[in-house]
Amino acid sequence: MKPLLQTFLLTVIFTSTALGQKITIKVIPDAQPVTISKHIYGHFAEHLGRCIYDGFYVGEESDIPNTAGVRNDVVAALKNLKIPNLRWPGGCFADTYQWKDGIGPKADRPTIVNQWWGGSTEDNSFGTHDFLNLCELLETEPYLSANVGSGTVRETEDWLQYTTHSGTSPMADLRRKNGREEPWRVPYWGVGNEAWGCGGNMSAEYYANIYKQFATYMRDWNPEDETPVVRVASGASGDDYHWTETLMKNIKPHLVEALALHHYAVTDWSAKGPSVNYDEAQYFGSLREALKMETYVTKHAAIMDRYDPEKKIALYVDEWGGWYDTESALQNGVLYQQNTMRDAMIAATTLNTFNNHADRVRMANLAQTVNVLQAVILTKEEKLLLTPTYHIMKMYAVHQEATLIPLDFTSPMYHFREENLPAISVSASRDAKGQVHISLANIDSKIAHTIELNLSALALDNLRGEILTSDKLQDYNSFETPEKIKPETFSPINLKQGVATLKIPPFSVVVLKGTQ
Ligand code: AHR
Repeated sequence: MKPLLQTFLLTVIFTSTALGQKITIKVIPDAQPVTISKHIYGHFAEHLGRCIYDGFYVGEESDIPNTAGVRNDVVAALKNLKIPNLRWPGGCFADTYQWKDGIGPKADRPTIVNQWWGGSTEDNSFGTHDFLNLCELLETEPYLSANVGSGTVRETEDWLQYTTHSGTSPMADLRRKNGREEPWRVPYWGVGNEAWGCGGNMSAEYYANIYKQFATYMRDWNPEDETPVVRVASGASGDDYHWTETLMKNIKPHLVEALALHHYAVTDWSAKGPSVNYDEAQYFGSLREALKMETYVTKHAAIMDRYDPEKKIALYVDEWGGWYDTESALQNGVLYQQNTMRDAMIAATTLNTFNNHADRVRMANLAQTVNVLQAVILTKEEKLLLTPTYHIMKMYAVHQEATLIPLDFTSPMYHFREENLPAISVSASRDAKGQVHISLANIDSKIAHTIELNLSALALDNLRGEILTSDKLQDYNSFETPEKIKPETFSPINLKQGVATLKIPPFSVVVLKGTQ
């Protein structure tokens, strides 16, 4: 280990060119070292619209190059992101899913009607083997969501036995009969999804009881796998603090490893606004909602601290992102949307929040990976494009498993009409090789901020950076211009006597890297 980061002071002075403010950012001294879990950079793939079918999965017979029906270009792009985990099969879909209908010969599988998402009839050709083999291909850890809303304890117990039991048992034998000898590693198990809504419309008190019943039978089936099963309780939506309080009060710590939290950056659920060609009011509204994540995480964590001061139980924000109206009513239930610089700003600020709360937030799952909501990948027949959100996830991947450098600062404000939002969001970390990364987002639509970073205590040299920005706030990558927005080298960075001076343009994200 290098000398403790906490012993020095990093002073960062922000000077807003328009407002003339000076902001000092300090490393909080003597803080306990916290590792930023790689799982904060997790993803989510639901049977919804074109995420699984015609997104990940095109079938073995497709002309699009694939491995067991999964697009090779999607796999390559996600591996480049170092995707640490993937949550499946939902979402709301999970509480209707019968896993046994998705195993065995594909021709013999019954169909399922996707009740939550458009009423489409699926042929179950993408099932448990397909998903877990995909995770192996991606070198990522699977996170299965069990059906609590319309399923039974026995079905969930059987799914665990089927996927993870190495010995002889009815389900392990069935798995072998279906062509898979060795169990898979399935560390993460969701006990239902949004139990307060599509997962059964339960009260917190009722769900706490149901949770305990399920969790009791969700045991470790593979003695060779030393990592115990992580049971994730279906968590609150946004500011429902009563939900978190009730679960923490009623569920004994030995029965739960993580509580979930969902929050989407939506201003009005009945009129979410367009994913492209939005005006500044809509941009500001989306960012206002996205930045609420900071408050939600802080307050849910504070409740958890009262019951679990040692922070044994993690907070998993297993659904987050921007959600806009589909282009026509016909597409309702498909949730395909374009992804613009607004989404890049949502991703950058939200990931900074998660990094800064890494002591409690140990997983997060962006909704959703391909062709649905704030996707990192969009596909159209054989074409594939990487969205601005993809590039943010890639630029921020440097924080995975690094040690958080806690910062203390006050941001200049982004003013719009009568409202203000903090313009600048920051997080920083140091990785095992001693590389320091500082990620800065400026959400202001007009004002560039000049920043002075006093890095003398870090003794950094070779300071360099990447920037993601574009000419217009509404810009996006289309299938015609798929590389319109992509990271560029960031310059100039003026480093003199340990003080770096740089200017961050409006609606842009910079990640700096320095070597100690
Ligand atoms: O991500 C889309 C949906 O949003 C999920 O199915 C559900 O959990 C949430 O309401």
